[in-house]
Amino acid sequence: MRNGFTIASQFRTNARAVVYEGDCREMLREIPDGAIQLVVTSPPYNLGKEYEKHLHLDDYIKQQREVISECVRVLADGGSICWEVGNYVDDGAIIPLDALLYPVFAGLGLKMRNRIVWHFEHGLHCSRRLSGRYETIMWFTKGDNYFFELDQIRVPQKYPGKKYFKGPKAGQYSCNPLGKNPGDVWVVPNVKSNHVEKTGHPCQYPVELIERLVLALTREGDWVLDPFLGTGTSVIAALRHQRRGIGAELIQKYIGISKSRIEMAAHGELPVRPMDRPIFDPKDAGRNLLNAPWLAKKGPVDQMALLEKGTPYRTRK
Ligand SMILES: C[S@@+](CC[C@H](N)C(=O)[O-])C[C@H]1O[C@@H](n2cnc3c(N)ncnc32)[C@H](O)[C@@H]1O
Repeated sequence: MRNGFTIASQFRTNARAVVYEGDCREMLREIPDGAIQLVVTSPPYNLGKEYEKHLHLDDYIKQQREVISECVRVLADGGSICWEVGNYVDDGAIIPLDALLYPVFAGLGLKMRNRIVWHFEHGLHCSRRLSGRYETIMWFTKGDNYFFELDQIRVPQKYPGKKYFKGPKAGQYSCNPLGKNPGDVWVVPNVKSNHVEKTGHPCQYPVELIERLVLALTREGDWVLDPFLGTGTSVIAALRHQRRGIGAELIQKYIGISKSRIEMAAHGELPVRPMDRPIFDPKDAGRNLLNAPWLAKKGPVDQMALLEKGTPYRTRK
C-alpha cells in the first residue's frame, strides 16, 4: 500500500483496483449480478502463444462462451461489452474471430452497436497474404437503454471553419464546437518494442485504445472488468479516469507486471502514450531512414512525394 492505494485480490464494492490471481471464471463467480458497467478485453486468440494452450476451435469457442456468459451476468443493464480480437490462423488460412464469436454474444441477447476497426501500422510481414494491419473491437450492449457519452470522445473537425452556405443558418459555423464523432475506424499505434508502454508481454493493447471506451461507456466510479488482464491495461485505463478496475490473470509473470503498472498508474507515474498525440509522421524520421538507395536518382523530397501518393514500387522510375 502507498498513499492509501491498495490493489485488492478479490471483488469488493469499495475497492478501486482488483487483480485476481487465477482463472477468470473463478473470479467472475464471486461478482454479483449487474455490478459491472463495462467489460473490455482482448482474449487469447488460440494461436498457441506462451500464455495459452492451443485448443480445437470448437473447444476454444466453448471456453469463450463460458466466460462471455458470466460476463453478461455481471454486466449492468445498459452496460457494454467490448471484445477485441484478431484472426485465428490455421495452416495459413485465417478465420476472423469476431465472425466466430458474434453468434455467442447475439445468442446471449446482446446487441452489437459497432464493430470498430483498430488500424495500426506495424506488425508481421506476410509473404503469402497481405500483412494484417487491423483488429476489431466488437461493442455490444445489454439492452437498448445503454450509456454512451459521445461528447467525451469527440475529435477535432477536419474543417472547423466550414459554414452553412444557405438556409436559415447561412454564415454560421456548421460543425459541432465540441468536435466530431471519431467514427468506427480508429488509428492507434500498437504496442511494439519502441512503444513507451511496452513490457515483456507479447500481446499488450495500448492504454489509449481502452481509455476511449472507458470515457464513452462509463461514468466516474463505475466498474470496468477485464477477464484476461495481461499487463493490467484495462484497469489502468479505468483508474486514469476515476473508474474502478478489476481483472484476472493466470500467469505469475504477468500478474507481477500488471500490479506494478497499476500501482504506478494510480500514482500518476506510469508512462503512457497520450490519447491526443498525433500519429508519428514518417517525414519526421530523418534523412537516413527516408532515403532509399535503390531510388538514388531521386532526392529525399521526391521520395516523400512518391510515398505520400502511394505510388507502387513497380511503376516508380
Ligand atoms: C491477449 S492477452 C491480454 C493482454 C492485455 N490486453 C494487455 O494489454 O496486457 C490474454 C491474457 O489472458 C491470460 N489468460 C488466459 N486464460 C486466462 C484465464 N482463463 N483466466 C485469466 N487469465 C487468462 C493470458 O495469460 C494472457 O496474459
